[in-house]
Amino acid sequence: MQKFVYHAPTEIVFGKDTELRTAEMVKKYGGSRVFVVYGGQSAVRSGLLDRVMQNLKENDVAAEAMGGVVPNPLVSTAREMVKAALAFQADFILAVGGGSVIDTAKGVAHAVADPSHDIWDFWTGTKVTKSLPIGTILTISAAGSETSNSAVLTNDTKVPPTKRGITTEFNRCRFAIMNPELTMTLPKYQIGAGAADIFMHTSERYFAAVLGNHLTDEIAEGLFRDIVLYGPRGVEDPQDYEAMSEIMWCGSVSHVGLTGVGAQGDTPREGDWACHQLGMAISALYDSTHGATLSAVWAAWCRYVRSENIGRFAQFARKVYGITEPDDTKASEEGILKTNAFFKSLGMPLSLTELLGHTPDDEEIEKLAVECTYDRTRKIGAFKILDYDDIVAIYKACR
Ligand code: NZQ
Ligand code: ZN
Repeated sequence: MQKFVYHAPTEIVFGKDTELRTAEMVKKYGGSRVFVVYGGQSAVRSGLLDRVMQNLKENDVAAEAMGGVVPNPLVSTAREMVKAALAFQADFILAVGGGSVIDTAKGVAHAVADPSHDIWDFWTGTKVTKSLPIGTILTISAAGSETSNSAVLTNDTKVPPTKRGITTEFNRCRFAIMNPELTMTLPKYQIGAGAADIFMHTSERYFAAVLGNHLTDEIAEGLFRDIVLYGPRGVEDPQDYEAMSEIMWCGSVSHVGLTGVGAQGDTPREGDWACHQLGMAISALYDSTHGATLSAVWAAWCRYVRSENIGRFAQFARKVYGITEPDDTKASEEGILKTNAFFKSLGMPLSLTELLGHTPDDEEIEKLAVECTYDRTRKIGAFKILDYDDIVAIYKACR
């Protein structure tokens, strides 16, 4: 087993009615003036927001709530929230929602703790050195932001908009309240997109350049099998508590870094993340749902990079789907086809044409590649490092 450092500090409170422990958890982590961030209407419509505000009030925790976070969350919304949270003198940020709400809450927490910087500075190089404590009440199993050290925002004040992520330990939530029943109001499309994203958070770490921890592989292969089994069940019947709870826990474990441990000498086992970078550019330019961008590009990425380590793709096919084909290349292809069938059963697109509703022309592909490479200033990936031309080729292959 290779050397690693692993740190996963988020306290998980899982199960039915756990949102009734909100005030207790906020107090445990030092909050007395809570700024509550939520999204569009779902938390209001379900009555969750009212229940949470009531729970805080009954337990003498001052709270102010502000909604308006949209999927592919905008830095302009976060800026307004920073102003309001500063005026309220918040000492704790509570996210009630999914990845978009949690990532906005993370940005708000950083900018409120250090108002000398504009929030976007933290997304473009300024190191986060302090933050307010953040807690989450999760309403959609998908992004894994409740346990991850990342946050992703779209800068909508730029033309064209740009979508970027940052990684810092200050992005860790102190607690995550996870009641699977809260996800039963989700539209099937969002459950499907969430399951695709959960699958991809394991895939991005499984297809790494540095390999070697057997237990890590076994955990990853178990996570793959779990989401392949329960994802379609959740889409089929969102009232299936067992399926929705498996999906929820799988989402958190898939993005807590557990399957990304290991290093060869001083070279850390970095995840690949190319599909996420390809997908984020699509979301920036077309405002597409994150999980759907990933299913649209995954197979084309696999076929483009698999010769780097065909054995790894064959192992994936055999361990995840029980494929018995002895030839590695053929086995890898069967694994790709099985995964596409899984994405399809979730209602997710398998190409850019299916995702966007039209076939992007060469000019559109080039714009995507420019966004993906931050105007040709970077390469992406680790399993195989991809430059601008590679990225254009992959986008073309998934048309
Ligand atoms: O806005 P409301 O009305 O709440 O509706 C939301 C939204 O339309 C709805 N929804 C959420 N919970 C619901 C519900 N509808 C009914 N019942 C419920 N219980 O679902 C829609 C999608 O919500 P969103 O928060 O956008 O979903 P998700 O959790 O998939 O988050 C996606 C964002 O997270 C980023 C993505 O890029 C994207 O911006 N990611 C963040 C990561 C991280 N911080 O670690 C990692 C991921 O790879 C990802 O990049
Ligand atoms: Zn993701």
